[in-house]
Amino acid sequence: MSLTLENFDYVDELVRQQSAIVLGRDKRYLAETRLASLAREEGCESLNEFVTRLRVPHNNGLRAKVVEAMTTNETLFFRDSHPFESLRQTIVPKLIERRSAQRSLSIWSAACSSGQEPYSIAMLLHEHFPVLQGWNVRLIATDLCAGMIERARLGRFRQLEVNRGLPAAYLVKYFQREGLDWQINSNVRRLVQFLQLNLAADNWPALPPLDVIFLRNVLIYFEVPTRKQILGKIRRLLRPDGYLFLGGAETTFHVDDAFECVSVDSSKCFRLRDVCRTEPRQPDNIHCLVTS
Ligand SMILES: C[S@@+](CC[C@H](N)C(=O)[O-])C[C@H]1O[C@@H](n2cnc3c(N)ncnc32)[C@H](O)[C@@H]1O
Repeated sequence: MSLTLENFDYVDELVRQQSAIVLGRDKRYLAETRLASLAREEGCESLNEFVTRLRVPHNNGLRAKVVEAMTTNETLFFRDSHPFESLRQTIVPKLIERRSAQRSLSIWSAACSSGQEPYSIAMLLHEHFPVLQGWNVRLIATDLCAGMIERARLGRFRQLEVNRGLPAAYLVKYFQREGLDWQINSNVRRLVQFLQLNLAADNWPALPPLDVIFLRNVLIYFEVPTRKQILGKIRRLLRPDGYLFLGGAETTFHVDDAFECVSVDSSKCFRLRDVCRTEPRQPDNIHCLVTS
């Protein structure tokens, strides 16, 4: 099934308005592939007929499905491993020390897709930091797609998904077989609070001040003004001594210079600049890479 350029531009604009994801004309083939099954489900004989239906005013349900179909939800457990190693070795121990009076810790996995990222964090906390069981730990996970949030909340994964990044010992300890799938145990599942949140929206639901934010592999889909807008909001939510993780191909450099890139163990993360300047480096094992 193919789309006329005019109909592709309509889809491109719709996706951009509702998610800030920029497709561009070189993604026309992608739209054709991803929308073909939706078009068939709607009983349309061609993609152009489908887009005609999409253009009908107030067809918001169908428009939301199109936007969801155009998101890339690729994810895996313990993706890139280093951020999780840094959490375990340095960041969480440091935060436990700093927050021992309040006994509270807040972590946000923004753009969590089907849940592997927040569940990786939840398993890591459960496995290595039993002391946190007496704390108020908020692990919030959000995504644009209602379908992803629903899947993530269920905590049910296919064999292929648990084969990707999940240590065998964690599979045995934290999952149960359910038919052909694997169900994450309720003691891990209940640690994560899932919400739908569009990072590009003007208003976000209320979030607590955050100690750690995972905002990985999503800024790449946006143009610079949208990245700036999102990082501006993130900056206000992140605690002054908090940690921001982006994807390997993402940076705050030239987008929001309030952040600076630091090394924590073998991973790279971003912290608010003043903190980096004033905190002792050696005991923290944190070295500022970008200096002003
Ligand atoms: C490639 S996945 C990244 C998942 C996970 N963070 C990781 O690194 O493995 C990108 C996710 O961003 C979500 N996304 C795209 N646009 C978004 C937006 N405007 N607001 C919130 N989430 C969005 C998609 O639905 C998708 O689940």
